[in-house]
Amino acid sequence: MTQMPGTIKAAKMTDTKISARNVQVYYGDTHAIKDVNIEIGSRAVTAFIGPSGCGKSTFLRCLNRMNDTIDICRVEGNIDLDGEDIYDSRVDPVQLRAKVGMVFQKPNPFPKSIYDNIAYGPRIHGLVRKKAELDEIVASSLQKAGLWNEVKDRLDGPGTGLSGGQQQRLCIARAIAVSPEVILMDEPCSALDPIATAKVEELIDELRENFTIVIVTHSMQQAARVSQRTAFFHMGNLVEIGDTQDIFTNPVDKRTQDYITGRFG
Ligand SMILES: Nc1ncnc2c1ncn2[C@@H]1O[C@H](COP(=O)(O)OP(=O)(O)OP(=O)(O)O)[C@@H](O)[C@H]1O
Ligand SMILES: [Mg+2]
Repeated sequence: MTQMPGTIKAAKMTDTKISARNVQVYYGDTHAIKDVNIEIGSRAVTAFIGPSGCGKSTFLRCLNRMNDTIDICRVEGNIDLDGEDIYDSRVDPVQLRAKVGMVFQKPNPFPKSIYDNIAYGPRIHGLVRKKAELDEIVASSLQKAGLWNEVKDRLDGPGTGLSGGQQQRLCIARAIAVSPEVILMDEPCSALDPIATAKVEELIDELRENFTIVIVTHSMQQAARVSQRTAFFHMGNLVEIGDTQDIFTNPVDKRTQDYITGRFG
């Protein structure tokens, strides 16, 4: 197996956190995801890449049942989180989304203070009883998201008053505050400048010690920098998944090869 100089061979997938089998997604008559089978490893970063419209966001949204909120969307197949079917009728999607959090392309802080943005989730999920506990969660979430030093003196200021890159880290802190196990990120850096992007990428690299992360990205460089495994989607199919380094140096499928060499997409 070839190894790029100066890189450490990414660890092989360890425990499976999410396992999807025969997943189909339809929007009305449009078959958007076609029989996808995938295992997502615990405490690692998996990148989803592929041309626009290939189904990356659609599949990502299956993983925390976000597609439930789209009327015409129908999901079939099985998706297990730690061996439990997340589509089981006994699963409460709201609880599931606390376990499997999401960060969107456009930073979307609530129109509330920085403090209340982070405190929101722990409050509605009843995770705290005392103000001191909440203060502690707010501080530690902002620390983990690498934002604490920039905002500790303005916690009462509005979340929307932060820069775009800060807002995105605020949204990551908000996702972390409810102690999720998985964080789904849909092009989290596409609205950010290179410096803010670098900060978020560093953060993703730190977070993978404690969280399972799935990131959709249009940047191959970003996938190569932050992920250990990469999945390539094309026209609703999962074409291949493997160690990021292998996907970028030795793809098996011609469609992957064409995409990573810029021939389409
Ligand atoms: N809410 C929706 N209603 C109807 N069709 C949809 C909806 N969302 C996505 N689709 C369709 O499903 C397919 C996959 O779209 P999806 O947004 O998942 O692609 P993507 O890979 O995330 O693309 P991009 O890179 O542009 O974000 C496309 O054909 C799209 O038009
Ligand atoms: Mg998308």
